[in-house]
This record gives sequence, structure tokens and C-alpha cells, in this order.
Amino acid sequence: MLTKTADASRVEAFLRRLTLIHEYEVIIIGAGGAGLYAALEASKKAKTAVLSKLYPIRSHTGAAQGGISAALGNVEEDKPEWHAFDTVKGGDYLVDQKAASILAETAVQAVYDLENRGLPFNRTPEGLIDQRRFGGHTRNFGEAPVRRACYAADRTGHMILQTLYQQCIKNQVSFFNEFQVVDLVFDQKKCGGILALELATGEVHTFKAKAILFATGGFGRMFRITSNAYANTGDGPALCLRKGVPLEDLEFFQFHPTGIYGMGILITEGVRGEGGILRNQDGDRFMEKYAPKLLDLAPRDMVARAIMKEIRRGKGIKGDRSIDDFVHLDATHLGKDVIEEKLPEIADFSRTYLGIDPAEKPIPVQPTAHYAMGGIPTDQNGKVAADGKGSFYEGLYAAGECACVSVHGANRLGTNSLVDLIVFGKRAGIEMAEFVKDADFADFPKKRAKQIEAQIEKLKQRGKGACPEEIRLKLQKTMTQNAGVFRNGKHMEKALALIQDLREDYKKVQLQDDSKPFNTHLLEILELGNLLDLAYLSVSCALERKESRGAHAREDHPERDDENWLKHTLSWLKDDRVSFGAKSVDIDKWKPKPRVY
Ligand code: FUM
Repeated sequence: MLTKTADASRVEAFLRRLTLIHEYEVIIIGAGGAGLYAALEASKKAKTAVLSKLYPIRSHTGAAQGGISAALGNVEEDKPEWHAFDTVKGGDYLVDQKAASILAETAVQAVYDLENRGLPFNRTPEGLIDQRRFGGHTRNFGEAPVRRACYAADRTGHMILQTLYQQCIKNQVSFFNEFQVVDLVFDQKKCGGILALELATGEVHTFKAKAILFATGGFGRMFRITSNAYANTGDGPALCLRKGVPLEDLEFFQFHPTGIYGMGILITEGVRGEGGILRNQDGDRFMEKYAPKLLDLAPRDMVARAIMKEIRRGKGIKGDRSIDDFVHLDATHLGKDVIEEKLPEIADFSRTYLGIDPAEKPIPVQPTAHYAMGGIPTDQNGKVAADGKGSFYEGLYAAGECACVSVHGANRLGTNSLVDLIVFGKRAGIEMAEFVKDADFADFPKKRAKQIEAQIEKLKQRGKGACPEEIRLKLQKTMTQNAGVFRNGKHMEKALALIQDLREDYKKVQLQDDSKPFNTHLLEILELGNLLDLAYLSVSCALERKESRGAHAREDHPERDDENWLKHTLSWLKDDRVSFGAKSVDIDKWKPKPRVY
């Protein structure tokens, strides 16, 4: 039986959809942690709507399993300054240090805010929020691993989504679920709104707004082996790119060391945080060689490279599911109780996808494309930068994985993504609520929705053409093979040439379904266009950066080169050509040093 309130909100949602033109002060695209937190803050003062191509609590924030870091010091001494330092060092000094300090200092209150809003964190015997270890998080500037990750078993991201969605409903945020954004409207450098396809009906809706926030998440689906959900196709960054907005640091893509072999599904770093060990074919704990102090809890880029090195020297375990062999993640010594209490989700994944019980057998794992460090360039309040010289778009904001603050630099530490969403999502929400107070609605071209409908119709009429599934598979294979954990110029040139061909094929792509309601083939084609543009830019940027830093490991340029490359990359796509610019890195507090763990 529905309550009266739920009934009323359903009627309201139904009535909203009867019109195709909507006006809100703030529109947020994406209902993951960043989008929901921004909505929560903005809605306190401004008329706010969230558009999501999924039902909100299915957003990919739910895939961040292991925890959210904050120096609460509940189980061991800890300080926000140590957290900020680890973030900078983990990011191989490409992190903007003021942003890292904001992240670490605000994280503590952010976690208590989540707790106060109902997030069911695991508890210590004394009733405090429990904390576990995670890669690259240390005490006293690198001395030893520290317990900093606050967690709700291995469902931390899920719990954040549930908590924030409920709070947004309470704040009367309007939700447009299963709407795919298809265009961004600019009047000069001023943002006027967006257009979106309602998946249920196939209608194009116009959304006028004073402020738009992109919080659309990552774009890991450009890789074959990825932990990313099907929906992670970079819709926000790709749209911005087409409107002339630069993207920042697109060459930096994180490979999480422990994806399920052959499938890429995430096995949380929390397993190693609880004491899990990576072992090669001979059962050796090989991280002793690569990171003698932090071992299995070194930053992800290092652990992913160590796994690939073991595989390359013939110490991987033979498999039949993908191009590479795998290694073992051994949690058998943790015991059934710890696994079922603290890691129930990965136990379930192991049973479902591998038919094994991790309390009895080690889990076969390999690095999996996990997280884009780069994205839409923003300041610390989510405002989108138009260049590297301090000019910004009016009314355009971004937060979360689709944005680049830059707080993760060349390699993000595990658990810092959830902190990023909460801290910078909140700041963007507050900033937008302030901005819209004195802002006007910009001009919105009346015919835009009709033009988009006509483009879709033309696509439906095309008849024979290129097969989108084939294009996508070729893209994903070349990205995993040629732009993965280790890279070199020759392989990336090959990938780039293929991507250029695929982008040409895409211009003739065939839409096989001409119906309007739930045309998922149309959705897949739109998403593929976004992936192709972002892959084109990512590989171009990776070729341009001739050094190794963080997750960008070039075999032909193996050293970090601070003299020439301690700078952020900005890149634009115009008339099918990529151009580059730079943005300086804030290194005010800690001068770059070699990374030793
Ligand atoms: O391993 C994990 O639980 C992933 C977390 C993250 O990417 O921050």
C-alpha cells in the first residue's frame, strides 16, 4: 500500500511528464553521489531537478564497495594533513594541493553528516564508525598503512546512494528518471539548459535552467575489461567537448588491480584492507618485491603494474577467458566470519560469477579499467573552466568522476572517489544555489528540440549502415590491448588509427529499431558516439604526454619528467582535430619527490 506522500509524488511525477518544456533554476544531470549531494544542497534554496538515465539508486556510485576515507582517528591516530599528503603523493604530484587539503579536511565532517542522515556504517565494539586500511593511505607521511576508510560492509557506495536519495525526496527535489541528455545549450559562454530524451516515450524534452551541473560519472565502457556499469559512457564530458569545452588530464585512467578475471567486475580493495594477499602462480606474495613497506596496500597504479609484470615474466596463472593470465587474491586465511560480515558482496560475486567460496579458494583477478582521473575542468566549487588561464563558463558546473578538480592527479587513491563526490558535490550545490539567486535564464533556441527529433528521424530512415555493436567491440578491444596498464607510442598510434576509422564508420551507423518507446538501440548508439569521442581524446592525450606518471605508464618514456610534464593537459576537439593546452599544477605545500612505498 502506498503512503499518501508517495502517492502524491507519483502523481506529481506523472503530471510533470505531460509537458515537454520544463524550467528549473538548477538542473543536475546524473543521480550518483555527486549529483544527489549537489541536489540536496541546491534544493534548500533553489528550484532543483535531477535527470538520470537510470533509476537513481542504480547509479554507479553503488560500485564503490570498500569505503570512504576520512581521518576520524577512531581506531588509530590519524590526521587530515596525512590524508592530504597521501592523496598528493598517490596522485604522483599532479594533484592540485589546495583541493587535496579541502578534500581531506572536509571529509571528516562529511562522513559524520552521512552518519547523521542515516548511513549504516560498520561499528567498532565501542560504537564508533569502524575504519579499515586501503591502498596508499598511511600514517605520518608514509610510515605505515593506516585505518582511514569508513565502511558499510562492502556496500558503502550503495548505502550512500540510498541515504542521499531519501534525503533528496524529503527536500522535494524533482526527479526525471530514465532521461538521456542529448544536448547542452549555450548562449555565448552562458549556459541556458539542456535537451533530453525521455526513454519511456522517445520524446525530446526541453529543460531551461540558470545553472546546469554534470555529474554523469565515468567512461570506463570504452575498455573491454572494466569494472564500470553499462551506463558509464561519459555523456557529460562528451557533450561539453562538442560545445567547445576543454577536457583535463584525459590520459590518466586508473586500472583497479583486482577485477574478476575475464569479466572485470570489481573485487574491492577492502579485501586487501582486511588482510587479503596477492599471490602468483607459485603462491609467492609478489608485492614484497614491488612495495616492501605497503605491500598489497600500495597505490593502485603500482599494484596493477606489479600484477602485469608477474604475468609478463610467466608467473601468472593460465586462463582461457581473456588475452592475459591472472593472479590470485587470497582471502582464505581471513576466515568465513570476517568474509561474511565485512565482505559479503564480494563473497556473493565470487559464488555467482566464479562458482567459488573466497573463504576456501583464492579469487582469480586481473587489472580492470576502473576510473577516469581526468574530465571536465572545474574549480573547487564545481565551476567549469574555459581555459587554463582562469576564465569560466557562466552557469555551467561539474562534479564527481566526470569532473577534474584536480584532486586525484595521475592516480586516485581507493576510497577518495566517494570523498570527492560528497565534498565537491556539496560545494557545487551550495555554489549553484548562490549563483541562481541573481542570475537570469539565458536565451533558449525554440527549435532545438525539433532539430534533435529530426536528427533521430533521419537516423531511423537510414536503412543499411555500420553495425554499432561491432564498432563498440573493436573500440573496447583496442583500448584494453593498446591503452591499458602499460602503454607505448607504437601501440597507441595503432589504437588511434583504428579509433579514427571507427569514428568514420560511426557516421554511417545503422539504427535497427525505429520505435519510440524504450528504444535502447538508439540509446546505445548515442552512448557509443560519446565513447568514441572520449577514447579519441584519451589516446591522443596519452600519446602527447611523453613521460610516465601515476597510472600513465609508458614503456617508451619510463621516467617521470617534472621538468617538462608537471602540468595538466587541456584538450579540445574541433572539426575532428584534437588540440592541446596546459594548466599549471598547484604544488604549494609539498614539492614533488620520487614515489617510494
Ligand atoms: O576497491 C574498492 O572498493 C573501490 C573503491 C574506490 O574505487 O574508491
